[in-house]
Amino acid sequence: MSEHKKPRVAILISGTGSNMQAIVAACRNGALDAEIAVVISDNPDAPGLAKARDAGIETASAVYERGIPREKNEQLIAETIRQKKIDWIVLAGFMKILSASFVRQFPGRIVNIHPSMLPAFPGAHAIRDALEAGADCAGVTIHIVDEMVDHGPILAQEEIPIRPGDTEKSLAERIHAVEHRLYPRTLQQLFHEDV
Ligand code: GRF
Repeated sequence: MSEHKKPRVAILISGTGSNMQAIVAACRNGALDAEIAVVISDNPDAPGLAKARDAGIETASAVYERGIPREKNEQLIAETIRQKKIDWIVLAGFMKILSASFVRQFPGRIVNIHPSMLPAFPGAHAIRDALEAGADCAGVTIHIVDEMVDHGPILAQEEIPIRPGDTEKSLAERIHAVEHRLYPRTLQQLFHEDV
């Protein structure tokens, strides 16, 4: 057995968790050399949390309370990350904006996937916005998270042409297919310093 220590990863989700599942699958089939130490959600009912538990992965919920500062709501996430000795924080459909002070605690160690060719169409409705704008193409961007929203050094990008008659659903399906291939591959390169 090699002495090699796998990078320890926390995945943050809010919903379905299909990217989380693709990353877990890549760890299991050897395409991604990493250990998913915990899956954290701001939504205790996120379907992705149940999927993570079914896959035997530890989970945690960090429910955000209204009326208190973002930084306070993030404390449980930061504590879990420290406690579990996490090397990389991977956002996979995490719908809360992380505060600058959270990002500063883990500089260069937070990765995000966004369903557009950033800087085009940042924000929570990128696919709808691209369709409404009549854009020719959508895309996928994987980037390091900095203190601005959907912003930071880009690690990988892939364009996805928009077809006549595309709906949010049909386009999202093609985007997801690209994400599930591109995210594990990019993480492998990042964790093992090939990018
Ligand atoms: C993905 O399209 C990702 O780009 C965006 O949120 C979506 C999450 O999907 N940030 P899933 O929960 O991984 O299925």
